[in-house]
Amino acid sequence: MLPRTAPSRTLNFGKQPMKMNKSKKISRREALKYAGMTAVGAAAAYAGVKLWPVREDPSVAPLSEAQLIPNYQSKTSMKVLLVNGSPHKKGCTYTALSEVASALEKDGVETEIFWLGIDPLAGCRGCASCRSTGRCVLNDSVNTVADKAPEFDGFVFGSPVHYAAASGFITSFLDRLFYSAGKRFASKPGAAVVSCRRAGSTAALEQLNKYFTICNMPVVPSQYWNMVHGNTPDEVLQDLEGLQTMRTLGQNMAWLLKCIEAGKAAGIAPPTYEDRVATNFIR
Ligand SMILES: Cc1cc2nc3c(=O)[nH]c(=O)nc-3n(C[C@H](O)[C@H](O)[C@H](O)COP(=O)(O)O)c2cc1C
Repeated sequence: MLPRTAPSRTLNFGKQPMKMNKSKKISRREALKYAGMTAVGAAAAYAGVKLWPVREDPSVAPLSEAQLIPNYQSKTSMKVLLVNGSPHKKGCTYTALSEVASALEKDGVETEIFWLGIDPLAGCRGCASCRSTGRCVLNDSVNTVADKAPEFDGFVFGSPVHYAAASGFITSFLDRLFYSAGKRFASKPGAAVVSCRRAGSTAALEQLNKYFTICNMPVVPSQYWNMVHGNTPDEVLQDLEGLQTMRTLGQNMAWLLKCIEAGKAAGIAPPTYEDRVATNFIR
């Protein structure tokens, strides 16, 4: 059981002064360009003009800043959400996720498995409406999970391997979830799990891990890459090494969550990040 209050010898690492990057020099021309771009953005915002054409769903209400940013208070109970991105509710992916969940529960972490279902799940429209509302214009399971995300301390996303990639369901789901609500996952551990009959598992795993590493999420490891093999749940249950990999993943996730909570209790907050710099390859 973790302490409810911070110990008396609190390490005060929480508020570090933000360091400016003095070493990076920009030319006068670049400086004028940035100033111009900022002025255009500010003027557009002031006048209520949207720079992107947006089709909005009026039922999707904007969230407050407090709802968008995770709450970093230390707590005693922890919860992990496991998302099943297979069209089979209780298939091979579910079997793998259940093994991770059992290991987490054994270590005192609550779990919830969420199935994406088989109804069509649209891909991201790139309308950028979520930049102002923090929610997707398509009001489906993406917003359901985004709304529930602050309740959870860690996340596991599971997928069958389809043509050496993650399933279309989970790809559409994660594109929209992370594009609209990525900030809500920052500093929370994430892991991906894949299930395949024979091949393509590492490619799919690599694809899924990329959502975490673009969102400041620590990626949880195991003793092997997080995969099980089988075409049916029964076959997965015969993949003893795959199941052990799942249990080890659950143990590592529980350990990391406890370390993060212990850190918070000792006054160690997640980093305060610099304002985002976004450049592309032509400027
Ligand atoms: C459309 C489709 C594509 C698949 N592609 C692959 C593949 O590239 N490699 C592989 O090993 N298995 C492939 N499979 C098999 C599934 O990955 C495997 O049966 C998986 O364990 C099913 O998990 P589930 O029961 O959770 O859906 C494919 C299955 C389907 C339906």
